[in-house]
Amino acid sequence: MSGLGVQPKLIIHGGAGSSLKSKGGLESVRRSLHAVLEAVYPLLRDGATAEAAVIQGCRLLEDDPRFNAGTGSVLQSDGQIRMSASLMNGSQQRFSGVINVSRVQNPILLADFLQNSPDHVLSDIGALELLRELNLPTYDPLTEIRLQEWMLERQGNFSKEMAGVVAERELVEESAGRGTIGVVALDREGRLAAGTSTGGKGFERIGRVSDSATPAGNYATMQAAISCTGIGEDIIDECLAARIVVRVTDGMPLQAAFEKSFKEAAQNQRDFGAIGIDATGAISWGKTCEVLLAAYHDGTEIGDVLEWADGNLVGGTHPS
Ligand code: GLY
Repeated sequence: MSGLGVQPKLIIHGGAGSSLKSKGGLESVRRSLHAVLEAVYPLLRDGATAEAAVIQGCRLLEDDPRFNAGTGSVLQSDGQIRMSASLMNGSQQRFSGVINVSRVQNPILLADFLQNSPDHVLSDIGALELLRELNLPTYDPLTEIRLQEWMLERQGNFSKEMAGVVAERELVEESAGRGTIGVVALDREGRLAAGTSTGGKGFERIGRVSDSATPAGNYATMQAAISCTGIGEDIIDECLAARIVVRVTDGMPLQAAFEKSFKEAAQNQRDFGAIGIDATGAISWGKTCEVLLAAYHDGTEIGDVLEWADGNLVGGTHPS
């Protein structure tokens, strides 16, 4: 806490999965994530709400073709892009989202609109109708690299479990990753929010529903906010975001809630990562996979966990 209220905190992710094999790939992901923190943290410092900061962070990450959300989303088995996104306002404990929406630049903006609508979660046709109602321009999020990735996978009859975690030309032939983007923020008034957006696993069956627009993948209360990334089926089976948030809401410190939840997840051989912030300003992250592409601003400095390899399932910072 400071004389001006709560010190804002911000953590973001650009997916999780297998290690980025090239150092160049890692450095370009680091530059992208740090640029988003540098653009969004000042908004929080100047008094923006956690919800506004989360929306802006998600928009920037959706617009970065490197990440699997918005522009640069992966293709499903039929060669189409269908995206999912959700927003949770912790102070109002209100979830909203869109599932399998096409032809929109920023799915998070649809989730934002649905926060104040009687219907909070829309799927494909409903989301498309909303797009028209809001007069949002039709947009094609396809990139050449994702198309190449899909064509390569088609030759292999879609045997990969998921598409590459980030889109880099030299990484197209790397092993499976798990892409999604997410943003969690604590604002000066102590309000929390979380947002998550994804193009899905990539190469999935038509109609498959991602965790990202469910409370398993994105959840917040007044006490904690969490965004997940990884294999959506595993995240749903653990109900990960809601599980961690409920533990904190029941009185467990954030780091302890991450430790307990990730220990259980490892025992169940899950494949995912998560980021979170609690109302005290603690920031936590966790992964059962090789790498979590996450970075944070703790109010003093930017840090990231791109090269985190200490063997622990979770890490974090505590407010000073
Ligand atoms: N976590 C993204 C997905 O499985 O769709």
